[in-house]
Amino acid sequence: MKNHTCPWWLAYTFDHRLRRLLHNPERLLGGQIKPGMTVLDLGCGMGFFSIGMARLVGSEGRVISVDVQPDMLRVLLGRAERAGLADRIQPHLCHADQLGLSVKADFALAFWMAHEINDRVAFFNQVRGCLRSGGRLLVVEPVIHVTGRDFRTVEDSITAAGFAPLDQPRIRLSRARFFEVI
Ligand SMILES: C[S@@+](CC[C@H](N)C(=O)[O-])C[C@H]1O[C@@H](n2cnc3c(N)ncnc32)[C@H](O)[C@@H]1O
Repeated sequence: MKNHTCPWWLAYTFDHRLRRLLHNPERLLGGQIKPGMTVLDLGCGMGFFSIGMARLVGSEGRVISVDVQPDMLRVLLGRAERAGLADRIQPHLCHADQLGLSVKADFALAFWMAHEINDRVAFFNQVRGCLRSGGRLLVVEPVIHVTGRDFRTVEDSITAAGFAPLDQPRIRLSRARFFEVI
């Protein structure tokens, strides 16, 4: 599995309106994210999921949208403002090896990003520190780049970081699993 960061302009190829037919954020995450929650969108890119997550947490909740690329966060902010959701979305620029967050969130999403991380055990260890006890993480990887064997390597690094594996939701074009903070 080759680790490299998705260039910000490439994100336009998969982050567009038609994607809702494949990945509807509210439908995929509605069972996990409730009004008032604090949630993390890790490797948020241009915010395809952050916007839907902001609708789910409601006016009392908060989405912390984390990415290493300022250009991704810039596009996300514009989208959040146009959707009238900017007050619920907190963009956070992290470093590749340092999340730099101090929060206890209820839920975290890592959609099509784990294969871009070099030291996954260290990364997900930091994610665990940002989740409350019993908090859940959903990891989703693209079938095109990430083979079944690669995905098991990703799962192993997440369990090594202190998460218990849960069920595997069916998500189009993807391999996915829920995890829970032990
Ligand atoms: C393929 S994009 C997916 C974006 C978004 N999750 C989606 O599904 O539309 C992967 C994103 O992960 C980000 N990323 C890569 N390494 C990261 C890291 N160490 N920490 C946070 N974000 C990272 C990239 O900058 C990119 O925006």
